[in-house]
Amino acid sequence: MKVFSTRLLPQAGTDLIEKAGHTLTQWQEKRELTEEEFIAHCKAVDGIILTGRRKADSAFFKACSHLKVVSLFSVGYDNVDVTAATAAGIAIGNTPNVLSKATADTAFLLMLATSRKAFFHHKRIANGDWDFFEPTANLGISLHGKTLGILGLGNIGFEMATLCKNAYGMNVIYHNRSTNPKAEKELGAVKVSFDELLAQSDVLSVHANLSDESKGLFDAAAFIKMKPNAIFINTARGPIHNEEDLKAALDNRTIWGAGLDVTNPEPMDKDNPLLDMPNVCVLPHIGSAVQETRDAMAVLAARNLIAGLKGEKLPACVNPEVY
Ligand code: DGY
Repeated sequence: MKVFSTRLLPQAGTDLIEKAGHTLTQWQEKRELTEEEFIAHCKAVDGIILTGRRKADSAFFKACSHLKVVSLFSVGYDNVDVTAATAAGIAIGNTPNVLSKATADTAFLLMLATSRKAFFHHKRIANGDWDFFEPTANLGISLHGKTLGILGLGNIGFEMATLCKNAYGMNVIYHNRSTNPKAEKELGAVKVSFDELLAQSDVLSVHANLSDESKGLFDAAAFIKMKPNAIFINTARGPIHNEEDLKAALDNRTIWGAGLDVTNPEPMDKDNPLLDMPNVCVLPHIGSAVQETRDAMAVLAARNLIAGLKGEKLPACVNPEVY
């Protein structure tokens, strides 16, 4: 069958697709596909691998209702109208678990880098601004024995909590719809209300899906309830925080610092004032970007695609109600 990928995939995935006898076309240009190009490519194939920011909305599923499968190269599926896909009888696959450790590593990196203003100091040296040793300057915040608050304690949140517990003996609190018995037993994690999470966290790390419930959750009203020494980390989705409010909270010292792997919008504008703030570290949505993880994601996305083309259940399916 014919398949299309909206980006160039790691070879571990393309090998599997080709070995299964399918013909793969990949979008290789260094720009996003337009809506028209996306639909035109999808009309010509039986299944697709969808990566990055490209949205599959209800108009897309109306135009491409012939597709047998949409296999996402991501764990997040907020770019897909899952209800419309299910109504069109199209299975959606995603890549959970395989990227949990790599994404938690990125959250941990941002936490530590922000606590020591690492990106700012790097820039300072590059600007020729490193002269003498100052006992009272360039001070960061220690993380030892502090309280880590996790919003959304799923697989990635669990890995982040484990890293923080092991490295710094941090106390773990979390806010989630469901209880996480494994985290409570193994890490001593304590479930709290959202307001308690805000009030008690020294580091607050976001690992929730983007949904109507989580969109804009971190706004001025939330930041004001946080500790003045708190560090806010977001490696989930940019729209979960309000970037203007975050900037104001940092300017006013309502909170101490922020580490972002996701921004709102993406890409972040190069003139965004957050990039010049000493207590802010920003990365370009690279949470899962290590070779081993990207290979594992490619293999799972390819397995989802191949199963969907055969009309079989996907190994990782977002909308099992489609069956
Ligand atoms: C994911 O897997 O959801 C990453 O954030 C990439 O979109």
